[in-house]
Amino acid sequence: MHEPVLLQETIANLICDPHGIYVDCTLGGGGHLRYLIENLEPDARVIGIDKDLDILNQTRLCFNDPRLTFIQSDFRDLTQVLQELNVELVDGIMMDLGVSSFQLDEADRGFSFHEDAPLDMRMNREQFLTAREIVNGYGEAEIREILFKYGEETYARNIAKAIVSYRAEKDIESTLELVDIIKKAVPGKYCREKHPARKSFQALRIVVNGELEALQAVLPQAVKMLKPKGRLCVISFHSLEDRIVKQFMQEKSRNCICPPDFPMCICEHRAQLKLISRKPFIASSEESTSNPRSRSAKLRVAARI
Ligand SMILES: C[S@@+](CC[C@H](N)C(=O)[O-])C[C@H]1O[C@@H](n2cnc3c(N)ncnc32)[C@H](O)[C@@H]1O
Repeated sequence: MHEPVLLQETIANLICDPHGIYVDCTLGGGGHLRYLIENLEPDARVIGIDKDLDILNQTRLCFNDPRLTFIQSDFRDLTQVLQELNVELVDGIMMDLGVSSFQLDEADRGFSFHEDAPLDMRMNREQFLTAREIVNGYGEAEIREILFKYGEETYARNIAKAIVSYRAEKDIESTLELVDIIKKAVPGKYCREKHPARKSFQALRIVVNGELEALQAVLPQAVKMLKPKGRLCVISFHSLEDRIVKQFMQEKSRNCICPPDFPMCICEHRAQLKLISRKPFIASSEESTSNPRSRSAKLRVAARI
């Protein structure tokens, strides 16, 4: 079961008109979607997007509601998706970033460092790039950079070196093979703190799926597609995602983005968003206890001006 995080907070902040049109850009198992439609009127409409066709098809079967439209797409193509549906503007757009429990639990997808599986990690199985291509094909410096930049992995240098020396003998095929290489490359103390492969797996997954680029691409489109007062709700799970969302919302909610030492405004930048709360919503202690995944979740909400 995928337990949706910050469910009440997200849906309460997302709905500004119960008759409106909403987009769930990260449908997953439909946890947020279910609660969203329960709180909308019969004439409302919801478009659920996921780039993972397997998940989309499974979730589609769980719903029988004429208000719903399911689309397989990367959310970075949001404008095109809505244009093809002849939808001009919408009342709310939400994103619950990252992977769903379905993807983690499906052993052959290669997302989990607990299960042995081929090194895949693709959300969209039609794409070419897999984690296997990266660990076996990229140079040591490139792997180090990926682990450092997208995993904030302290031992990126050791791990990259170990990967390259291992693969000189044979290709790295499976998740647990990679976990083993990582365990041997980092100090024992590090292995006792948290899972030593956690950050490397995050980094590889982000690169395989182009997660940060997709987020950067969708945010400006989302602002353009919102009706006045329409809501944008984004749930992120690590600092790299949250930084992008936070900086974007802050910049779009400012009237002037000239450097502070400019005597007068020359940028003519006008706010397009209003922040609904300066600080992100985070999980209550009850939710953190019952759903550990929620502990790192941050929900940021803004309204279109
Ligand atoms: C955390 S899950 C969403 C869970 C969902 N809110 C629920 O409660 O069941 C994230 C989902 O977004 C999808 N996803 C991630 N990045 C995407 C992108 N760029 N475009 C479309 N779908 C994406 C993943 O395939 C995954 O199914």
